[in-house]
Amino acid sequence: MNITAYLKEKKELIDTFLESHFNTPFVPAVLNSAMGYSLFAGGKRIRPILALASYETCGGIAEEILPYAASLEFIHTYSLIHDDLPAMDNDDLRRGKPTNHKVFGEGIAILAGDALLTEAFYLLSNHTHRTSRITHCSVLKMIREVAMAAGAHGMVGGQAQDILSENETLDSASLSFIHTHKTGALITASVRMGGILANANEKTLHALTQYGENIGLAFQIIDDVLNVQGDSRELGKQTGSDERMEKMTYTRLYGIDLSKKKAEELVNNALDVVQSLSEGAEPLREIARYIIRRRN
Ligand code: IPE
Ligand code: IPE
Ligand code: MG
Ligand code: MG
Repeated sequence: MNITAYLKEKKELIDTFLESHFNTPFVPAVLNSAMGYSLFAGGKRIRPILALASYETCGGIAEEILPYAASLEFIHTYSLIHDDLPAMDNDDLRRGKPTNHKVFGEGIAILAGDALLTEAFYLLSNHTHRTSRITHCSVLKMIREVAMAAGAHGMVGGQAQDILSENETLDSASLSFIHTHKTGALITASVRMGGILANANEKTLHALTQYGENIGLAFQIIDDVLNVQGDSRELGKQTGSDERMEKMTYTRLYGIDLSKKKAEELVNNALDVVQSLSEGAEPLREIARYIIRRRN
């Protein structure tokens, strides 16, 4: 299969939904602009795409779950706006544009993030009845999972440990906690979302979970590598910032080559676990491979 074409097609689906959902202006206009600014600044949309790919793997049709998948992008975009704030990573460039707080100021940037997070749960709670396959019960289960993955027990917990660990002595347990929580949790939830909404059985959900955990950690390891080796223009964000902030990263603890090797091992694990799934799992396999070779 042509993964580039697949990612493009699914990204367009997500972008079209996001644009149509966001096309009614509201006040305060500056809050409206600040939310749209980061949401539409670019971004690979990999979390929603993972949800669509796993739903399709389990026999569903991507369009049926677009609002739920898109909610992941609202959460992710909020996390990026807050991650870039002076109180956190203090970054000036994101998705190829000045960061949200640079344009709108810190107060509005914080609130734009808050609003995006809240909007996500508004979307998640909307049972659209696009198909009888999706039950109230699975929608509720999905909301609980996304909440756990995004909050203190997941992404926010990882982000807290990330900033607490700046300038600290490297240790592999904290490093693994940070990466599996700040990035792995939402990626795993994205993959599981597709399975939950398609009423996948326990065995399939277990395989999807393992796939998500492996690619989630690999994704953040590659993010660490790109922060050292990547091209700022291609990435749309500044490189070298992890070193400047003395962040706890894989590259700092293991070096570039070993970090890449670890990411490859994780992707191989992910490929192994999805072998048990249907032939429809081809996009999941190709996304796992793409995570290693991506340049942004
Ligand atoms: C960047 O995520 C932050 C991490 C959690 C590693 P992405 O690499 O998915 O960023 P966008 O959405 O494409 O900008
Ligand atoms: C971002 O981690 C993780 C979240 C936003 C949850 P990083 O701080 O390492 O990611 P970048 O490099 O700024 O995108
Ligand atoms: Mg950070
Ligand atoms: Mg950052």
